[in-house]
Amino acid sequence: MPVRISPSILSADFANLERDLHRIGDADLVHVDVMDGHFVPNLTLGLPVVERIQQVSPLPLDVHLMIDDADRWAPRYAELGAFSVTFSGEAAADPVATARAVRSTGARASVAVKPGTDLEPYLRTLDEFDMILVMTVEPGFGGQSFMADTMPKLARAREAVDRSGLDVWLEVDGGIDVQTIVTAVANGADTVVAGSAVYGGEPSERIAALRAAAATV
Ligand code: DX5
Ligand code: ZN
Repeated sequence: MPVRISPSILSADFANLERDLHRIGDADLVHVDVMDGHFVPNLTLGLPVVERIQQVSPLPLDVHLMIDDADRWAPRYAELGAFSVTFSGEAAADPVATARAVRSTGARASVAVKPGTDLEPYLRTLDEFDMILVMTVEPGFGGQSFMADTMPKLARAREAVDRSGLDVWLEVDGGIDVQTIVTAVANGADTVVAGSAVYGGEPSERIAALRAAAATV
């Protein structure tokens, strides 16, 4: 099964978002990073902008919420028509109820964990999620270095998903390039976010290079 590529528009030109959305048409998803300046020390965009992205994007939306009060906000992004909504597990009071609320809209429900957060509680309720996002940097900014010490956690998630027989996707996000994608896929990732690696050059060429690197695993 080929790896899915989800370019992060955090590295796009926010003054030319529609143009930059069309420059990644060869990808599988578009990764939309929502940050609130509280859960992470950075602020990006919110519901009205994501709603317009949903209207003009040629690709399904892979919304990544890095915001407090995930229980309240995740369903709102799902209602906009996002394909997938990932909320930060650390910001949710009741992750299972929040995932159910997201799923009730027809969207895929996903939970993210920071590099230092234990994944085991989520692996015990795997059937409640369509995807798990293992952060490979501390969330907040693009262009950071991949943290290889998150790989045992990813490999453990891969083992749990395979054993369950469930079709739960495993996503990685942060510091992915043509080298680190090989490590991430070898440890079980099937869905890969890349921001600076895609928009740092000609996006269609960068996406092709990432796909080629992933196919070597
Ligand atoms: C970081 C965001 C990422 C970011 C990745 O907190 O969640 O999606 O855009 O950027 P790169 O690929 O440049 O590390
Ligand atoms: Zn992200």
